[in-house]
Amino acid sequence: MIWQRLLARQSRLPSGLIGRLLIGSYLDRVNAEINTLVYEALAPEPQQRVLEVGFGGADLLFRIAAGLDRGRIEGLELSGEMLDNARRRAARLGLADKAGFHAGSVDALPFADASFDLACSVHTIYFWPDLESGLTELARVFKPGGRLVLGFSTDTDLRRDGWTEQGFQAYPTEVIVESCRALGFESERLDSIPRNPRGQVYAYRGIRA
Ligand SMILES: C[S@@+](CC[C@H](N)C(=O)[O-])C[C@H]1O[C@@H](n2cnc3c(N)ncnc32)[C@H](O)[C@@H]1O
Repeated sequence: MIWQRLLARQSRLPSGLIGRLLIGSYLDRVNAEINTLVYEALAPEPQQRVLEVGFGGADLLFRIAAGLDRGRIEGLELSGEMLDNARRRAARLGLADKAGFHAGSVDALPFADASFDLACSVHTIYFWPDLESGLTELARVFKPGGRLVLGFSTDTDLRRDGWTEQGFQAYPTEVIVESCRALGFESERLDSIPRNPRGQVYAYRGIRA
């Protein structure tokens, strides 16, 4: 219980020495499968402009950055520790010219309207101030035809595993799909990893009309 409380707090906002030294690599390890699912659903092309919200350890962000040539990825994070780690790692990997890092929250994106072809966010919707305002902001920064991919666990699993008691906001899959549809995302697709030992995880992909 204490371990779960600590992990919940650090997942919501990695911080302090634990956040700086341990949480990024922990998140990258436990979320490797869903990051791959999201990467495949996103299918970034080398010239595209991409946004990742709440990149945490940033494995997915650097995987995308490595495949870009004229394109660029912007990462948005609430956590100063995750931002510092990612900036250092970008320099180490020689990817600093392809990736930008920004402090902020999904409900107030520091980007102009219609500036991205693709956007993704994995295991973050439970912490957004609310689903509606986050999705509305994401819809605002999309170019027409842009693809949004959200990775998340089902509300049933989050409840069963005690995460909702730790303050995670759990949304039924239909609510996520419907909210995206209401904001003009269409041609939806849901991929999942049904036999993931941590429960069922989905990658929702919608295309901005
Ligand atoms: C559970 S971690 C997931 C990290 C990474 N996407 C992954 O799957 O491994 C959630 C991340 O979202 C970030 N986050 C939480 N609320 C946020 C918000 N409102 N806007 C942007 N990022 C947020 C946290 O700082 C944290 O790094």
